[in-house]
Amino acid sequence: MNHSPTSQTLSVIGLGYVGLTTAVGFAELGHKVIGVDVDDEKIKALNRGISPIYETGMDQLLRKNRHRLTFTVDLNEAVRSSSIIFVAVGTPTKDTGEADLSQIIDVAHGLSESINNYKIIVIKSTVPVGSVDLIRNILSQKRKEGKDFDLVVNPEFLREGNAIHDFFKPSRVVIGADNKQAAQVVAQLYKPLSTPILITPPIDAQMIKYAANAFLASRISFINEIATISERVGADIKNVIKGLSYDPRLGDGYLSPGIGFGGPCLTKDLKALIHMAQSYDYEPRFLKSILERNEEQIQSIVWKVKKALGGILYGKTIGVLGLSFKPGTKDIRNSPAVRIVKLLKQGGALIKAYDPMAMDEAKTILPDIEYCATPYEFKDLDLLLLLVGWEEFKQLDYRRLKKGMSTPIIIDGVNLLEPRVMKELGFTYSGVGR
Ligand SMILES: NC(=O)c1ccc[n+]([C@@H]2O[C@H](COP(=O)([O-])OP(=O)(O)OC[C@H]3O[C@@H](n4cnc5c(N)ncnc54)[C@H](O)[C@@H]3O)[C@@H](O)[C@H]2O)c1
Repeated sequence: MNHSPTSQTLSVIGLGYVGLTTAVGFAELGHKVIGVDVDDEKIKALNRGISPIYETGMDQLLRKNRHRLTFTVDLNEAVRSSSIIFVAVGTPTKDTGEADLSQIIDVAHGLSESINNYKIIVIKSTVPVGSVDLIRNILSQKRKEGKDFDLVVNPEFLREGNAIHDFFKPSRVVIGADNKQAAQVVAQLYKPLSTPILITPPIDAQMIKYAANAFLASRISFINEIATISERVGADIKNVIKGLSYDPRLGDGYLSPGIGFGGPCLTKDLKALIHMAQSYDYEPRFLKSILERNEEQIQSIVWKVKKALGGILYGKTIGVLGLSFKPGTKDIRNSPAVRIVKLLKQGGALIKAYDPMAMDEAKTILPDIEYCATPYEFKDLDLLLLLVGWEEFKQLDYRRLKKGMSTPIIIDGVNLLEPRVMKELGFTYSGVGR
């Protein structure tokens, strides 16, 4: 990787998926990076070289750039030592759907206390329109914009499970700033990545991020709708998608039918965008229908399981493959798989579950199901339910798994398996839209 021509000292506040990737990525580009988090355990682990999140390549980059990385809970010290400060704290959803800005507000107060000379403050967290003014107002109580600080918005588009790859090979970098010089300084940081850099007013940069996630979510809800219709009329959604994908206007990205979208971003950002539109007196019916369709999808998987079990969940034993919100991550935030397991349990089913990575996380919110060290420990199953498209689930010995089943029924919620092969093995197989 090419190093940046001029090395800087940067701070990154909030070391979750986005913050830690940003910290490690800029360290690899040759900058000194101070990572700050309020979570003492996380900082201790990072200082021992242990990543609190799983991302391919993260551990190696942490080790390789150890000399350029410092991790601390001391925001004041970090801010004083750096000229550019990235803010990557969480912006979860409130009950109203509105973005909860409390972490950002805390950071803004901390920054306002700590700023000792001119800083560029870069908001990487996904924040709704109006938040930049909120942060500006907090900072401006004690500091002067232009002299003590400038604000830049730099939304993040990384995909969990591909975070390191996406840092070094982003499809684009979007920088929103009123101050062109500050925007250029941030643009320089990304120059070694040789990617299009779009500089816009802050509000446009924020809308780009929300529109991107709303569009991705809409594609998932769209293809789930088409899959449901395909299933009813007897078409195979895999062929339908193939036929769509040749059309350059359509492509095939985010056109996989499944159990619905989840994770820390799509639902949250869609809700925030809906809330934002409503607060500007617009009722975004299309966006609301994307969310509603997603809820339907989750319910429809539960319904499918129930139907396959003769209409009764009570007392049935279901083996669940996959709990994370998608393959390649141990993140279970807003995982549709977890939601489905909860609904099955509410119906009285007994759950045995396996996930390659997310079982420790799942135990914190699903304490009363049985976790198995491998799927071959599943015993006396009435049904096997595949909920996450982990590659390793393709390689399982299904003949062996069948031995642990009282009735050989597979519901493949992510169309990972080959229906013909499963039928040849003697399973009653059902996917989504086929
Ligand atoms: N996760 C993703 O895939 C993704 C992708 C693009 C954008 N985003 C956006 O990026 C932001 C961060 O997301 P994430 O998934 O990395 O969040 P996260 O919850 O994984 O991490 C947030 C971190 O901030 C820390 N924190 C909270 N308050 C703090 C404070 N006052 N000072 C210092 N640290 C503090 C938390 O301890 C936590 O480690 C969100 O706005 C999210 O919407 C996330």
